[in-house]
Amino acid sequence: MSRRRSAAWWGVLGLMLLALAGCAPRAGTQATPAASPAAAGVPDLGGRTLRVATDATYPPFEMLDEQKNLIGYDIDLIREICRLANCRPEIRSVAWEGILPGVQQGDYDVAISGITITPEREQRVDFTEPYIEVGQVILVRADETRIQGAQDLADKTVAVQLGTTNDELATRMQRERQIREVRRYRTFDLAVAALLNRDVDAVIIDSVAGQGFIAQNPGRLKTVGERLTREQLGIVVREGNTELRDAFNAALRALKQDGTLDRLYRKWFEEWKPK
Ligand code: ARG
Repeated sequence: MSRRRSAAWWGVLGLMLLALAGCAPRAGTQATPAASPAAAGVPDLGGRTLRVATDATYPPFEMLDEQKNLIGYDIDLIREICRLANCRPEIRSVAWEGILPGVQQGDYDVAISGITITPEREQRVDFTEPYIEVGQVILVRADETRIQGAQDLADKTVAVQLGTTNDELATRMQRERQIREVRRYRTFDLAVAALLNRDVDAVIIDSVAGQGFIAQNPGRLKTVGERLTREQLGIVVREGNTELRDAFNAALRALKQDGTLDRLYRKWFEEWKPK
């Protein structure tokens, strides 16, 4: 073989080795296509993997489909953000009460889980700009006639998810004797199950998730009365992680402008029908 031919073969061999290295699965991650650069005006996160925590018991923000895939508005949103900011979300469903501590300890880079921006939480973690506004509502069984609104709860038992802003509101109402008893569940699934089982009289829940549970239980649930709060939801990063927060904010602005947020809203709050 001539010197030139053998140099060419070494080159081919080298390329094959590189290709093999590229195909080899890396621990814990799936082989994913090469990252595409960030969109114009959005900081580039260099294709890095982000550990994202969510509590997937919150339709239609985050839930599991029949094949146990994570789906929902928040799931689509973080994927769209990473498409623009050049990152790879590795999304895990975890218990709600572990989400903010997990971000604080650095177990997760990001939390997206219908999380209300509150001054108390802002002491512990950083939030992006709001991506949607919600309000709390009262969810009751479809055949309920005794409860028309918040004024009818003074002798009733109300369920919430432990550690949510819904828990905070119900706890305050109970202190002010506007609710007889508050039952706190680890997930909203369990709170709604308790309502359907007649263990409790009502659930206090964010409007959008209330609609999600109504859609999942056709003919069995309804909301009553006025909205009790106005709350902004944001995406959480570790306190001081301005790199991630700024990239996400730039991506959120782009997604608002190009109509993606509106499209996701229609997809999950108007068109989505649970199986
Ligand atoms: N918005 C409420 C809060 O931040 C409830 C969020 C519950 N989210 C969930 N995935 N379970 O406290």
